[in-house]
Amino acid sequence: MAAVVLVGAQWGDEGKGKITDFLAEKADCVVRYQGGSNAGHTVEVKNEKFMLHLIPSGILNPDTLCIIGNGVVVDMQEVIEEIKGLQKRGIDTANLRISLRAPLVIPYHKKIDAVEDRSSRIGTTQRGIGPAYADKINRTGFRICDLLADRNFFKEQFKRQVENKNWILEELYGETGFNPQELLAQLMNQVEVLRPYLADTSYLVYRAIQEGHKVLFEGAQGTLLDIDHGTYPYVTSSSATAGGACTGVGIGPTSINRVLGVVKAYTTRVGEGPFPTELHDNVGILLRERGAEFGTTTGRTRRCGWLDAVILRYAARINGLTDLAITKLDVLDSLPTVKICVAYRYKGTLIYEFPESGSILKQCEPEYLELAGWQQDLSKITAYEKLPAQARAYVEKIEELTGIKQALIAVGPQRKQTIITRTVFD
Ligand code: GDP
Ligand code: IMO
Ligand code: MG
Repeated sequence: MAAVVLVGAQWGDEGKGKITDFLAEKADCVVRYQGGSNAGHTVEVKNEKFMLHLIPSGILNPDTLCIIGNGVVVDMQEVIEEIKGLQKRGIDTANLRISLRAPLVIPYHKKIDAVEDRSSRIGTTQRGIGPAYADKINRTGFRICDLLADRNFFKEQFKRQVENKNWILEELYGETGFNPQELLAQLMNQVEVLRPYLADTSYLVYRAIQEGHKVLFEGAQGTLLDIDHGTYPYVTSSSATAGGACTGVGIGPTSINRVLGVVKAYTTRVGEGPFPTELHDNVGILLRERGAEFGTTTGRTRRCGWLDAVILRYAARINGLTDLAITKLDVLDSLPTVKICVAYRYKGTLIYEFPESGSILKQCEPEYLELAGWQQDLSKITAYEKLPAQARAYVEKIEELTGIKQALIAVGPQRKQTIITRTVFD
């Protein structure tokens, strides 16, 4: 029996899609548990590149059951387009299942997201994520199953909600609203297209675990974007940490065996918010260019900086990490020296724990440990012992600073550019 949660240890874009795809070769089931189409997970196999937003990154393996759990906010139009895009490229999507309990992202959520981000300046992906989760928590949202239940009751409720949203859009922001009938017709058409994929996914996952299948829970975003534990308010609106897997799928915590933290060998961030190790020099530019650090969902430039072990220790604690997958080690190949932040200096004092407040974090100066670079191409290395000594020293320093052992190391975007040091799924 193996149920493994895969979670981003930093601010997202750690390479979760690549690692998920790699592990999906062995996994029977891959499950998304939070987020929505704000996620952009890249998978490269041979010369093909796939961008996945809502569909789990296990979809390229035809035998893997891929599930969008109840914790994900679902934009049905986006799912339909993603399915069509995959099918056009010869990818079978018959093994996709979507939770009937998943809340819907409705076009008014996206519009409100875009309008409100003008003043809140979080720099959201404008995919309607915050407004859709706000409606869920406020109990004013709609779930997929609502579209299939008592139509007359639903119609009334829906009309009232659209009127409320139109009031916000028109009266508060001077924007145009939505026609409830047209919107409803769109949703009804979409749910019919998706009907073959809809299921009680919590039960499917429960059964898979009971039957001893290998299940991977694919997190989106990352620890520091988590609504509770991230750099609030510069976060997303879901539980992106490992705890989210239980509520976002409908399984108990005792079902989970391991938690794999995906760690990019340096740090990146998209959107606004404090970032202590951010680099504004040539090294920052090199990381961005060699690492192709441009957003998968919005195309925005990612801010880049040195690896931050204060963040990683925090991620290890919040998620209960048992293993690390270190990605993009190859991006550091040409550097003569590499740095890891081991503590923050705040008002003259060294602090080792990640601070709770953004106003403190903003004033934190990183304290660096400097290590020798390896100045060699790692991209073709397939065994840990073959890595240059300096690269191994870098990886082992990460293990020492976090107290967590690595299981996988990625040295390129391709599925096969992955070094296994500890088995995740037998
Ligand atoms: P995710 O959101 O965590 O799935 O990450 P993204 O897909 O948004 O961003 C990671 C980017 O790095 C993608 O373009 C991947 O193809 C690429 N990538 C993943 N692992 C590696 C690696 O080890 N080396 C390099 N050079 N690129 C990688
Ligand atoms: P993956 O799964 C990186 C960031 C946005 C913004 C903040 C809130 O690819 O790692 P939202 O649209 O969620 O309300 O935006 O969160 N953000 C991400 N950053 N990777 C992601 O996903 C992200 N999803 C959201 O840039 O700062
Ligand atoms: Mg991404």
